[in-house]
Amino acid sequence: MEGKSIYLIGFMGAGKTSIGHELGKKTGLPVIDTDELFEKFTGIEIRNFFELYGEQRFREKETEILLNLSNHPSIITTGGGIILKEKNRQFLQKSGRVIFLQCHPDVFLDRLKDDQTRPLIKNKSVEEIKEMYEKRLPLYMESSTVTIDTSDLSIEEAAELIINRM
Ligand code: S3P
Repeated sequence: MEGKSIYLIGFMGAGKTSIGHELGKKTGLPVIDTDELFEKFTGIEIRNFFELYGEQRFREKETEILLNLSNHPSIITTGGGIILKEKNRQFLQKSGRVIFLQCHPDVFLDRLKDDQTRPLIKNKSVEEIKEMYEKRLPLYMESSTVTIDTSDLSIEEAAELIINRM
């Protein structure tokens, strides 16, 4: 576990934020969330930012945030679309400590069903969300070194598994 940051990637609802916090507790490392940093730096909630400036501007800022993270070893939890930009994928690959939190669509769809905060799933059908996930799947795979399926795991079990795989 020594020395480097651990990045958690995966689709919305896969448990990145909760598992990241659990990992922070277990390892004593600080937890940094790229979405939180985004809102802190821009002073705008992500859903409002999408409405005002659109996805492309969001992706540009998100990349800026990822590439400028401090080198201090941390648990870094990322937005689900962080792997869409090639620059980000290369950055993650170079870090060598990226965990893909995989999750069965039935599980993340259930977790996301009442969510009003994520602009990319607002007004989308279940089929469209699944399609988005399928398209992203190879990008999560190519950016990560370890895959953990969180569908049947508690937050605690997932964090334990990550620590054992590091
Ligand atoms: C996004 C996921 C969100 C947030 C933004 C876009 C995506 O983060 O970055 O709404 O493209 O999947 P979470 O994965 O933490 O929900």
